[in-house]
Amino acid sequence: MNILILGSGGREHTFAWKISQSPLCQNLYIAPGNAGTQQHGTNVPINPMDFEAIKKLTIEQSIDMMVVGPEAPLVAGIYDFFKNDAALKQIPVIGPSAKGAQLEGSKAFSKAFMAKRNIPTAGYQEFTQETLQEGLAYIDQLTPPVVLKADGLAAGKGVLILNDVEEAKMEFSAMLDGKFGAASEKVVIEDFLDGIEFSVFVLTDGVDYKVLPIAKDYKRIGEGDTGLNTGGMGAVSPVPFVDAALMQKVTNRIIIPTVKGLAEDELEYKGFVFIGLIRVDNEPYVIEYNCRMGDPETEVVLPRLENDLLELLVALAEGNLGAKEIKISEKAATTIMLVSGGYPEAYEKGKTMTGFDKISDSLLFHAGTKQDGDNVVSNGGRVLAITSLGDDFKTALAISNKNAELIDFDKKNYRKDIGFDL
Ligand code: AMP
Ligand code: GLY
Repeated sequence: MNILILGSGGREHTFAWKISQSPLCQNLYIAPGNAGTQQHGTNVPINPMDFEAIKKLTIEQSIDMMVVGPEAPLVAGIYDFFKNDAALKQIPVIGPSAKGAQLEGSKAFSKAFMAKRNIPTAGYQEFTQETLQEGLAYIDQLTPPVVLKADGLAAGKGVLILNDVEEAKMEFSAMLDGKFGAASEKVVIEDFLDGIEFSVFVLTDGVDYKVLPIAKDYKRIGEGDTGLNTGGMGAVSPVPFVDAALMQKVTNRIIIPTVKGLAEDELEYKGFVFIGLIRVDNEPYVIEYNCRMGDPETEVVLPRLENDLLELLVALAEGNLGAKEIKISEKAATTIMLVSGGYPEAYEKGKTMTGFDKISDSLLFHAGTKQDGDNVVSNGGRVLAITSLGDDFKTALAISNKNAELIDFDKKNYRKDIGFDL
């Protein structure tokens, strides 16, 4: 098979690494990819939002399946674009339709989806410019922290948690005033949930589903979970506190009704559902849905998956997922993300990276990197994920931490405390 992966991060390098191991994979293309993905296939300089260019590549290279990494092309309807095009409609796209992707693309949509089937999540209200006054009055009677969420995609920046009611009211008005552009024309105000987060990844064809390894990511830039939110600074899998009893609750109250809900609401969905969860008093609640895999969670989830991923994706596309059995390694996986100094605010790119040749006991998944002649240089905020496996997460972490020192580039930064709260 000829496979095309869309995206350019650590998640996509991990997909490329895993898919290229499949005997079913003949040619692998990554658009646009990074310096790591080219170890497993051919990078093609195409923006994942340029659907016409993707169509041309798909036809020219006789692509048999497309795997979509990031949410933006899914929310923009790349699945539907393929389905509605005579030349492309036979080619499976791994990812939901635009309607299905609304689970991530609209917080109000996903809250209504959950409410309809009593899936446990924080209580909420939604507001627009027309209901600004009601929104301000609503905030006035809340006990902080106040959770404000832009309805639409805001590059991971659309959630604000405020400890002061007056500040929350100002931010709320600013959001409705266009702080996040069209994404915050509608704002969801949620009850604050106090607990510990973890993530569950479900592969579904809209009828059957399979649960992939569970993971926990570390989103804040600073040690001890302090400072600004990032795309993710590290991850671990499995998550020690997620035991069989908690997972049973997640399955019965969240996963099963979610998959059933997709069919009930006629949301065409052949892809990954990433369910962000929080445990409060040993009960699971949904924080958010994403319509794709997580990054850097993929960098710990796929290394523990013993199945041939491409075989699973073929079964998914053919409606045979139910017949497959998921095999998960007993090993623990951890990843530590090396980032550019300054990230998630302004940072420099183009720093030459060294030390790759010193590492043989970790998997190095490139995120923001590019090939520059003989050198690999940094090309983004999150630069390189260092994944290690071990008998437990502490053993795995010790290897990633050791190797995080060996890779070098100017102004390198990373968290040395991944897993500190477990
Ligand atoms: P989201 O983009 O919805 O995942 O939100 C980003 C982060 O904000 C989450 O990972 C949580 O840490 C936090 N968060 C979101 N919603 C809530 C909530 N209702 N209560 C507490 N924390 C939340
Ligand atoms: N690591 C969180 C995400 O991928 O959204």
